[in-house]
Parts: sequence; structure tokens; C-alpha cells
Amino acid sequence: MDDQALFDEMNRLQQEIRLHNYRYHVLDAPLISDYEYDHLLVRLREIEAIHPDWVTADSPTQRVGAPISGKFAKVVHPAPILSLANAFDLEGVRAWYERISRLDDRVESADFVTEPKFDGLTVVLHYRQGKFVQGATRGDGEVGEDVTSNLRTLMSIPLRIPVNPDGPVPPDYIVIRGEVMIFKNDFEELNRRLEEAGEKTYLNPRNTAAGSLRQLDPNITAQRPLTLLTYAIVATDGPVPNKQFEVLQYLRDLGFPVTDHARYCKDFETMLDCSAAALQMRDELPYEVDGVVIKLNDLSLSEDLGIVGKDPRGALALKYPAREVTTSLKDIGVNVGRTGVLTPYAILDPVEVGGVIVKQATLHNFDYIAEKDIRIGDRVLIKRAGDVIPYVIGPVEDLRTGDEKIFTPPEVCPACGQPVERLAGEVAFYCVNAACPAQLVRNLEHYVSRSAMDIVGLGIKIVEQFIEAGLVKDVADLYTLKREDLLALEGFAEKKADNLLDAIDASRQQSLARLVNALGIRGIGEVGAETLTHFYRDLDELKAADYDALQQIEGFGPNIAQAIVDWFERPANLNLLKKLKTAGVWPRVEAASSESTASEGTLSGLSFVVTGTLTTYSRSEVKELIQKNGGKVVGSVSKKTSYLVAGEDAGSKLEKAQQLGTPIIDEAELLVLIRKGIAKE
Ligand code: IVH
Repeated sequence: MDDQALFDEMNRLQQEIRLHNYRYHVLDAPLISDYEYDHLLVRLREIEAIHPDWVTADSPTQRVGAPISGKFAKVVHPAPILSLANAFDLEGVRAWYERISRLDDRVESADFVTEPKFDGLTVVLHYRQGKFVQGATRGDGEVGEDVTSNLRTLMSIPLRIPVNPDGPVPPDYIVIRGEVMIFKNDFEELNRRLEEAGEKTYLNPRNTAAGSLRQLDPNITAQRPLTLLTYAIVATDGPVPNKQFEVLQYLRDLGFPVTDHARYCKDFETMLDCSAAALQMRDELPYEVDGVVIKLNDLSLSEDLGIVGKDPRGALALKYPAREVTTSLKDIGVNVGRTGVLTPYAILDPVEVGGVIVKQATLHNFDYIAEKDIRIGDRVLIKRAGDVIPYVIGPVEDLRTGDEKIFTPPEVCPACGQPVERLAGEVAFYCVNAACPAQLVRNLEHYVSRSAMDIVGLGIKIVEQFIEAGLVKDVADLYTLKREDLLALEGFAEKKADNLLDAIDASRQQSLARLVNALGIRGIGEVGAETLTHFYRDLDELKAADYDALQQIEGFGPNIAQAIVDWFERPANLNLLKKLKTAGVWPRVEAASSESTASEGTLSGLSFVVTGTLTTYSRSEVKELIQKNGGKVVGSVSKKTSYLVAGEDAGSKLEKAQQLGTPIIDEAELLVLIRKGIAKE
């Protein structure tokens, strides 16, 4: 092949690879497989190896491999890299609008653009004759650091523009501003990989992105999943749009990555709506945002309005409540749960996160503390997002003084002093002492709670009093409490004692479902307990239930079945059952029937499987209805099943019924069946 042909091939390859980079890294819509892409790159490298003199800095092969620099050179920005004034609510936005309206009449009829406020770090990208020639950090806004070699490794940064030959021809000189970030998915993936390799994980995407970009070795930067979103033109010597919304489209046309979440707002009120809506979108974005940026669309008007300090008057950041803050970890406490699980929690220097003062945060488990190397006395980053319980993300190691103390998990239960055990294959540490007072408190708390036995007037304080006074060693002891026992306690007068004894007595009448829930069997809550009572009429029947039958029940699996069997095997629990029976706390389900003992009715002799989301009744109501009318309810579809009662989104059971030709009916048809007694005919 002659040189000219080779040279042409090289140029073709470069152009093709550039486009594929763009499709893959900017549009997230690749046209070829990684395998094909690699081949193009291999061929390009081959040609460049034959003719090293042909290699130019904007070749796609030139993203990695730059030498380690001793430190970063300074770059004077062509124009100040401005910041943004903040508002914290829509009132603040109004106040800004009124301020600038007073300065210029044009503001009243102005249109706006809202954009996500990317939580990354600003970069300034210089292009000459369409080639990426320099990239800098923001620095102090006047002078930044030259991180060109590092930025070249970001596949979403075009080394040559326009990326698509059909795109607009850019001015000879153009400087673009954008934000470098790590997307949420990529961050999780990065941490997962590190965890697997037994290495330390990163705290959050922003800090990781910042640290990665300021690496002296570009090869390290290349290994981090950094991406870019652009939003402004800092300087240029050619014509460019002077409306913000058009600038975004222009950048997109040149091949730069631009958010899809910018909104054009025709007037102030629309802009307020957009800003409020943006807040709701926060969790749906693939990257972290810390607010919404509101910009006048007319960039000439913006420029005319001028600058206050470092903040242009024509734009404003509406900040979201912080979700992550740092504070001091004063100590680590250990909670003993109802099932004996020990859970560590952080005792914090109180700090405000998103409008709430946080004093404690979860540390998940003891392994987590060790993995994250969280030490008492550390400055820690905590997160409180949405409904999630505040948790400690990790320590800010750079702020360590050397006085921090490493935490070791307790060897004995902090409540009862008995040795702690760790079950094979589990992260949790357990206190296995059935008489542990901390577990007893939690147990009783649950037993008397509203969704369980609902014993009104028996709060945690009184529960603790009972246990402290040695009056109660398990929940059955509540039923043998005497008036004089209560009167001897602090804070009890006759009326209070009588009311409480009445409430305890009344709980004997609670349903079997409530009692089963109240027992606190692992994995059995309100719904599971209710389901069990459709199959077992009292605790004796449930005690006799075998593992296979239990795991056949819809919504139950092997773990729950095993937990039930285990619970009824433990001697302390058998003793408790005996005491409850003696105390007259032994509800029975009379109306409902178990699988084997269907009562007489229009559905007798028929077996039903119920599945999917029902509209009129809950699933358990439908089951009860079937049983009341003599039908059997079973967990899975077999040849013997008479009908499948299917609601919406029925899954595998519906498929099975279709395969077997089992009649499929809905709730209405079930009622017809019951009323007409078709089953009998
Ligand atoms: S515009 C004059 N737009 O937020 C232009 N900034 O708190 C001023 N930022 O330093 C910036 N997303 O690093 C703009 N869509 C966005 C942004 C954005 C994030 C950053 C930027 C700025 C900081 C100000």
C-alpha cells in the first residue's frame, strides 16, 4: 500500500472511531460492538506505528499514555470562570427576579432556561481549529490548573469538533465550560469492583471525580469512570448563539455531551414551575445534582446586567437541601434487637441534614465499620436521603488527628453480659440468651404494639419498669400481673393500675392473626400472620405444621417456613405457649378452615389458587370467602386445582394454569360461582 493510501486510511479510521466514541460515550447509543471498535483501534495503531510522524494530538489513540507530571502548570482563563449566587427556596428566586427587574425593563418579558446543577467540578476546554488543545480546572476563577492530559482520557470529551462532519464548523477559537462527574451507576460499579478486590471504597461521586481529575498520573485518571456535561461558551472569536437554550443545542451539534434535562421556560411563572418540578426529578437523574440553575435565556441581557463579586446577575442556583454533611462521631452504641441481633449505631455531634437535626445514624453492621475503617472520634460523612434512615457513609480520613480510636465489636451482649455469637455465613452478631432483658424489652414492646395485641396504656417506659422489677420474664407474665404488683411501682395509682389490667385482660380476645404477629417469629409480620390463620386454626395447629406445607403457602418461601418451624422447636417458646394457654390467651379461628378440613358450602369439593392483584377484595379476603363457602385454598396450581382466581399482573401461576388448562376466573366470576352454586351442579 502506498503512503497516500495508508494516510487516507488513517484519516478514515480516525473519523470513524471519533464517531463511535461519540455514539458510545456521549449518546449512549453505540453502532458497533466493542469487538469491532477494538479492531478499528488496533488498525489505526498499526498505521501510526509505521508512521509515528503522522500521529497528531487529536488522534483517538492519544487519550492515554501521557507521562506523569510533577505538578500542574497554571492556566490563565480567557474570561473569569464565574460562580453562581444561591437561593434556597422559590421565595429567594422571586426576590432575585425582582432585583434584576428593577435594573432592566427587558427582564419583565424575559424567557429562561433551567438546567440541573451538576454536582461535579468545573472544567474549561480550549479548542483551536476544532482541536482540543488545553483543559483546565476552575482554580480561583482567574487561574486554573492544566489537566489537559487527564481530560484527554475522558472518552466523552471530543478531541476534535465537530465530531460529526455534518455538524457546524466551529470558530477557530472556542472555549467551552462543563462539569466533570461520575454517574451514579458508574460510581456504584466502581465501588463494587473495589470491594471485590478488597480495596477501600470511595465516599461519593463528587469527591472521587475531583480526586481523579487532579491525578498527576493520567493513567490513573483513565481508569476512573469520569464523564462530562457541557453548558456554556466561555470565549470565542467567532459567531455563536446568544440564547442559552440555543447554546446548548449548538454544543450538542458540535458533539459535546449536554444534558437532556434543560428546560426552556417562556416566562417567569413557567420557570418557577420548571424549578419546582426539577426538585421532584432529583432522584431520577443518572448523576448527582445539588440544585437547579436558572438562567436568563438572553445572554446579551445577562451580560448587560453585570456581575456582583463572582456571581453573574443573569443566573441563579436554586439549591436543594443538602443530603450529605460531615460531623464528629462521638461514640458507637450497640442496640440489641427483638431477635437478639446486635446492631451498631453512630452517636453523632448533632447536625442538620435537609432540615432535620440528626444525632444518631446507622452503621449497618460490624463488618461495615471495619470495611470503611470508621473510628471513634472520626469526622464522618453522613447521608440522609428521602425516607432512608440516616447512615454513615465513611470517615474523612484526611481530617484525622491520630487520636481516633478503632472500634472492636463487643464480645458480650451490652445488655445482659452473655457471650455474643456469630452464626456461620451471617454478618450479624447475636445475643442468644433468651432471657436477655434488652430482647425482652423489644419483644414486649412488639407484643403490646398497636398492630399486634394492642394493649393500650402499656408503653416502653412501663415495659421497662416491669422488667426491672422482675415482674415479667416473658410476654405471658403480663397475664399474671396483680393489682398490688402494679401499685408498688412508681407512678401507678389505682385507676392507672386497673385500666392497664383491664387492657391486658381484653387482649385475650384478640384474633389469632394478631397473636401470631405478636409472637415475633422472624419474617412473620401482620400479613404473614393473617395468611397463616387461613390454614391453621390455633397455635397447636401451627406448631404441628410441617416445613413442606408451610413453604407451599403463597408468599412464603423456605426461609420463612424454616423460621416458623425453628420458633416452635425452641424450648423457651414451647414454655411460653404453655403459659399463654394457661392464661387463656388462645384464640381460635372458627369460621375459616384449613386445607384439609373444608367446610360445607357451594364451593365444597373445589380447590382454588388465588394470584395477582385483586381489585374488590384483598387476597386474604378472597381466600376467606372461598373457605367460608367450603372451598379449599392451595398455594400452587396443579392438575387438581379447580379454579385459578387471577387478578392483575398475575405471573407464573397464571402461566401454569394456562398450560394445564385450569379454568381462570376473576373476582366477579368467583362471586357468581358462590351465589349460583354452580359447583354443586
Ligand atoms: S452556569 C456564568 N450551569 O455550579 C455561569 N453552573 O455553584 C455560571 N454548575 O461553578 C455557571 N451545573 O461549577 C452553570 N448547569 C450549570 C451548572 C453549573 C453545575 C456549577 C458550576 C459553578 C457552580 C456554582
